[in-house]
Amino acid sequence: MRRAATLLQLPLFLAAQALGKVDINDKPDDNYRPQNVTGLDYFYYPWIGSYYNSSAIFTISDIKPRHDRSDSELELCGQLQNITYTWSHPAILAITETRSEDEQPKNTNPIDVSLFTSYSNFTKYFSDYMDSGNMPEWDMPFVFESIEISRYSYPASTDAEPYFNLTVAEDTGNGLPFRVTGSSELADNPLENLQMNMSTCSRSEGWWGVGPISLANGLDDIDSVTNPTLQLTFDDTSASFSIQSWIVANTLGEEDEETETPSISGRLTIEFLGRIDAARSDVLNEGTPVTWTPSMGFGNNSLSLDYGSGALATAGVNIRQIWITLGAVLAYIFI
Ligand SMILES: *[C@@H]1O[C@H](CO)[C@@H](O)[C@H](O)[C@H]1NC(C)=O
Ligand SMILES: *[C@@H]1O[C@H](CO)[C@@H](O)[C@H](O)[C@H]1NC(C)=O
Ligand SMILES: *[C@@H]1O[C@H](CO)[C@@H](O)[C@H](O)[C@H]1NC(C)=O
Ligand SMILES: *[C@@H]1O[C@H](CO)[C@@H](O)[C@H](O)[C@H]1NC(C)=O
Ligand SMILES: *[C@@H]1O[C@H](CO)[C@@H](O)[C@H](O)[C@H]1NC(C)=O
Ligand SMILES: *[C@@H]1O[C@H](CO)[C@@H](O)[C@H](O)[C@H]1NC(C)=O
Ligand SMILES: *[C@@H]1O[C@H](CO)[C@@H](O)[C@H](O)[C@H]1NC(C)=O
Repeated sequence: MRRAATLLQLPLFLAAQALGKVDINDKPDDNYRPQNVTGLDYFYYPWIGSYYNSSAIFTISDIKPRHDRSDSELELCGQLQNITYTWSHPAILAITETRSEDEQPKNTNPIDVSLFTSYSNFTKYFSDYMDSGNMPEWDMPFVFESIEISRYSYPASTDAEPYFNLTVAEDTGNGLPFRVTGSSELADNPLENLQMNMSTCSRSEGWWGVGPISLANGLDDIDSVTNPTLQLTFDDTSASFSIQSWIVANTLGEEDEETETPSISGRLTIEFLGRIDAARSDVLNEGTPVTWTPSMGFGNNSLSLDYGSGALATAGVNIRQIWITLGAVLAYIFI
């Protein structure tokens, strides 16, 4: 618990560094919304596309002890046997336009997909974050991105390749909804490490670190590992999104050595069933390829992003970069 808290100071330091670099991207043919859109203080909405609100439900199942490690010949204690562990957080799903081919030639996906979660509320997260890196650790969010999404200033990486390959099913004739499947072959599974509370062998509740894995990790002590996959169905009113991955997990900072908890493998699913946030979405057109008619910032629609304020978006903090670094720190747990 204490160790986790210390690790979480690091991204705050990095964020503070990133605050120095401001360079608003105003290329009209890019996937960003026009800069005249004002009044929305969230940093989640800079791209043309559709946004959905709901909760992300995380489930861990099929828990087994890992036996490849010399220090870990432990059996699963009774309280970890046959359990399915579920928790949820408020979440925003962003299905957005990709950057133009010139800007990001290696992104062969038809759309960008991101899932942002917050451990409490998004406004609180945003203001705490802006307020000097004082974000409480329970507000550190899980973020999924199909590709690294750069916010204005972050060196827009033209070399970026997708973390997940996405395919939109061919138009079945009636346009909506769109059906998308995806998978990732990356050895370095692009899903973030995450933390959760679950029973340990010594306590009814303890702090765990969870690391998604893929086939290419070559963890041969775990049977039948497959690559992470995702499914997505969406139209202009709702979206259903899910991710499946194998994971390894350890307790963090468990002090009682006598009733040691083994490291485990299992399955993780992340599910989201959300409604459109119409006030923050552009008009989704029917038929493949997926396109939007930009409405945020156009015509009489003046609501939305406030590029001029001290918004985190303007600061150009790249949340994924922060998490990659945090992930690298957490990763030592899983080696
Ligand atoms: C878990 O399931 C196995 C197989 O069904 C069973 O043998 C075992 O007793 C169960 N453990 C607990 C703690 O219920
Ligand atoms: C979210 O946090 C903000 C800022 O702390 C607060 O003003 C607002 O009431 C909170 N909303 C909810 C639903 O708790
Ligand atoms: C996507 O597909 C290409 C071509 O098959 C492959 O080279 C690449 O590794 C894949 N990317 C991921 C993230 O699986
Ligand atoms: C998680 O468990 C720790 C004890 O390890 C406890 O202090 C904390 O309050 C728990 N958090 C939640 C959200 O239940
Ligand atoms: C969607 O979520 C955002 C962020 O929490 C909130 O500001 C907005 O009012 C929500 N919109 C709808 C339609 O629920
Ligand atoms: C905002 O900017 C866009 C693109 O520059 C322009 O087409 C649109 O009319 C502007 N909207 C408003 C409300 O000024
Ligand atoms: C904005 O324009 C659309 C048509 O272009 C119209 O239907 C709608 O009522 C207008 N909204 C406002 C708030 O004026």
